[in-house]
Amino acid sequence: MKIIIVKDSKAMGSEAARLIARRMLQNPSLVLGLATGSTPIGTYQHLIRYCEEGLISFKKVKSFNLDEYVELDAKSPLSYVSFMQEQLFSKVDMDEKNWNIPDGNAQDLEKEALDYEEKIKKAGGIDLQLLGIGGNGHIGFNEPGTDFASVTHSTDLTEETIEDNARFFNSKEEVPTKAISMGMRSIMNAKEVLLLASGSSKAKAIKGAVQGPITTDVPASILQLHPNVTFIVDEEAARELRR
Ligand code: F6R
Repeated sequence: MKIIIVKDSKAMGSEAARLIARRMLQNPSLVLGLATGSTPIGTYQHLIRYCEEGLISFKKVKSFNLDEYVELDAKSPLSYVSFMQEQLFSKVDMDEKNWNIPDGNAQDLEKEALDYEEKIKKAGGIDLQLLGIGGNGHIGFNEPGTDFASVTHSTDLTEETIEDNARFFNSKEEVPTKAISMGMRSIMNAKEVLLLASGSSKAKAIKGAVQGPITTDVPASILQLHPNVTFIVDEEAARELRR
């Protein structure tokens, strides 16, 4: 596990974008696992700029997002499809047929989850998975207690996650209570993992993920067993780490 501690969230975004851009240059057909939320926005902005400047291209890149809310209209500005279009896909040279997000409105969520897992396999697996982390240590929407052997599945969000995500909605009541998410095993199967965290609200989760026991109580702690993982965290998120 490699831990890079940077000054603030701005530095986290540029450091992460440099790592992703390096991988895209090494392999133009990279299979990228992507995340939503506040954390990766700065990284996406740097990648957009690199693309505009002709340094990198998403033409051959395939992407798989970690998760999507269940029963939220895909056209809602708060769906993860809308988020990704707004924050990345519409601003880079990516082919629409190459990005994938689980369909939270599928009639049969179990089938959708199985199909999604199959699509990842068909693409040759994820080369580089980008992750944020929840204040409770969740990755994707794998909340505390999720089985380490889980693959893509539908799941209930915890009260804490609903409260955290209420900042994007008009009220807490509007936050969907279910999501479809890649599982813990789907994430561990990625060849490389890059986890980002900034701010003091992530300090406890980062401490647990990096130096705590490996336990389903802190889902990200499983990453201690991943052979190729980098954490880029800012000083506030790193403040509980024993140096
Ligand atoms: C998003 C995701 C979540 C977030 C996490 C942190 O696709 O899977 O695990 O990464 O909830 O969210 P932010 O970045 O908003 O603090």
